[in-house]
Amino acid sequence: MTAEPGTTEAPRKIVVLVSGTGTILQSLIDAERDSAVATDYKIIAVGADKPDIEGLARAERAGIPTFVVNPLKSSSRVEWDQALAERLSDYRPDWVVSAGFMRILGPQVLRKFPNRIINTHPSLLPSFPGAHAIDDALSHGVKVTGCTVHIVDSGVDTGPILAQVAVSVESGDDSETLHERVKQVERKLLIDTINQLCTQDQ
Ligand code: GRF
Repeated sequence: MTAEPGTTEAPRKIVVLVSGTGTILQSLIDAERDSAVATDYKIIAVGADKPDIEGLARAERAGIPTFVVNPLKSSSRVEWDQALAERLSDYRPDWVVSAGFMRILGPQVLRKFPNRIINTHPSLLPSFPGAHAIDDALSHGVKVTGCTVHIVDSGVDTGPILAQVAVSVESGDDSETLHERVKQVERKLLIDTINQLCTQDQ
């Protein structure tokens, strides 16, 4: 890993980025605070691309600092990218975790944290990248899909794969039932992967 880690001490500091309900964020918070679960990370901030979302409310209830960098308030994508890079840098995180953050990160953010940003995606990449992975899997009629945790690069869900788990598609599944079953697996996979990265870091 080549980035500038925020600290050389455990636990590793992470900033989580969200865009929606944040149930995966919640599982990261719960695991960090559950003394029965061994975790090696501390969520030091939660960022979003819009205000008033449940993901931010979850962080606030947990006493975690939050921030919003809203692209609608920036005059260009370059300006938004710069603003997000600055806000993230303020926290000096060891890792940035995109957990349901529905934006493509720009070059300034990627340059600040090379190989230090991970994303969780609800398909077995490289199948079904993009924002409609669950619907795309259902439309193709696949019998198995799953989730992937990967390093973020400049593409859409194209970075090096760190971990994957398969999930069966069941007859009668709709978008909601399948996504919920995938998310149940995704939550554990993300916690395990972050822990592994943070442990390797030391
Ligand atoms: C997850 O399936 C994630 O992979 C996808 O959006 C979902 C976020 O779920 N990009 P939640 O907001 O954490 O419930």
